[in-house]
Amino acid sequence: MDSFFKEAILSFKTSGTIRPSSKYLIHACLKDIDFERAENIIEFGAGNGCITSEIISRKRKSTNLYSFELNEKFYNHCKKRFHNEDGLHLIHGSVLEFDKILESQKINSVDYFISSLPLSLFEKSTINSIIGKVIPHMNNDGMFIQYLYSFNRYKLLRKHFNQVAMDMTLLNLPPAIIFKCKK
Ligand SMILES: C[S@@+](CC[C@H](N)C(=O)[O-])C[C@H]1O[C@@H](n2cnc3c(N)ncnc32)[C@H](O)[C@@H]1O
Repeated sequence: MDSFFKEAILSFKTSGTIRPSSKYLIHACLKDIDFERAENIIEFGAGNGCITSEIISRKRKSTNLYSFELNEKFYNHCKKRFHNEDGLHLIHGSVLEFDKILESQKINSVDYFISSLPLSLFEKSTINSIIGKVIPHMNNDGMFIQYLYSFNRYKLLRKHFNQVAMDMTLLNLPPAIIFKCKK
């Protein structure tokens, strides 16, 4: 997407970056997902669709992927990039509403949440309210995967999740930490 840089800068408070995730970061985020078993996957913050595309190529056709994107330009870009993809539901709106969408689709349990939301820039109260909704929708053996460019939300994640494993990739600009959280 030629205009990714421009759009990301214009909406830096919600994009939290100036470039899409590298293939190394995407691999680090997705490598522990059991795509054979997953029935429902939720993506928070599709952006230009770089992670969405990799999830689509790895998942089974019957697996539902709900990808949320707040920014209209990124959403429209993804709409054009992915059309008629089996199981993909692109949603233009805030992840704060994800529970309502799942309820309307009668989806109670989610196997994996993959979030690239810039939580380091979010208010703690907003993070608490997002994760407060994630936990009851997550399978007992499900995982919440979040990458960030700093450790500043580790304590907050630990407050919500029993297990928070960390991985890191230097092969991204900037280098990123991947948090893999279980309840
Ligand atoms: C760091 S970018 C990640 C984009 C892409 N997934 C990647 O890894 O390169 C974060 C994305 O989250 C989106 N976003 C931020 N707040 C959001 C919200 N409340 N609901 C849905 N998407 C949101 C932004 O518009 C942006 O596209």
